[in-house]
Amino acid sequence: MKQGPVLYEGKAKIVSQGETGRLIHYFKDSATAFNAQKKAEFPGKGALNLAISEVVFKALTAAQIPHHFIQRLDERSFESMSLQMIPAEVVVRNRVAGSLAQRLQEPEGALLSIPVVEFFLKNDAKGDPLVSEDILVAFYAQRQEDLQECRRLSLAVNQAVRPLFAAAQLELVDFKLEFGRDDEGRLFVADEFSPDTCRLWDVSTGEKFDKDRFRRDQGDLLEGYREVLKRLSQQ
Ligand code: TMP
Repeated sequence: MKQGPVLYEGKAKIVSQGETGRLIHYFKDSATAFNAQKKAEFPGKGALNLAISEVVFKALTAAQIPHHFIQRLDERSFESMSLQMIPAEVVVRNRVAGSLAQRLQEPEGALLSIPVVEFFLKNDAKGDPLVSEDILVAFYAQRQEDLQECRRLSLAVNQAVRPLFAAAQLELVDFKLEFGRDDEGRLFVADEFSPDTCRLWDVSTGEKFDKDRFRRDQGDLLEGYREVLKRLSQQ
């Protein structure tokens, strides 16, 4: 596998040029929260996040939802399509938690009567602000049709992935997706799907198995991620 120059280093991954039209994503062991104000290393986290993401991408394939994952290369790396990224983080929520609970000043855990889709501008310098679809069109040069398709695909991902976690006795409370376009303008789910980018609560006890363990100092992060992978692998 040909590995070219590093194109981008994020907080949790390093993206390099791969074969023509392809990228290589390397999962780091670092965890950050609150726009990297809090940071720590968790040896093994990268491999766990890749393994969990692979299970989710395979479920997306089964549900015929287009995504960028091509194949795992090793414990921490996978090959993807090379896409032009939409500069947004698309969050789907099934229950009130995190920043929504703060914004509404409502307790965490309340069930939402429909899944809620929110767009955040992907811009660390601006603190990833919540934005409307219109703002992404009017000020950030996005196409209305693409955002509608992101919304449709995000809800389809929710429908495809919720049962996968439910079978593992985990409730998918919310998650974040990113999207990219290929040369023909088609949209694909990109980035990762891991406990770094979603909230997973035990269906009976409510115990948290995601990055909130680190954000809120609520338990051993790696133990939570290992439990997620173990339960998914038993399906
Ligand atoms: P929030 O409640 O903090 O807005 O987070 C919603 C979901 O998005 C949650 O599952 C965690 C995920 N998320 C990310 O993947 N990256 C981020 O930078 C943030 C703030 C949240």
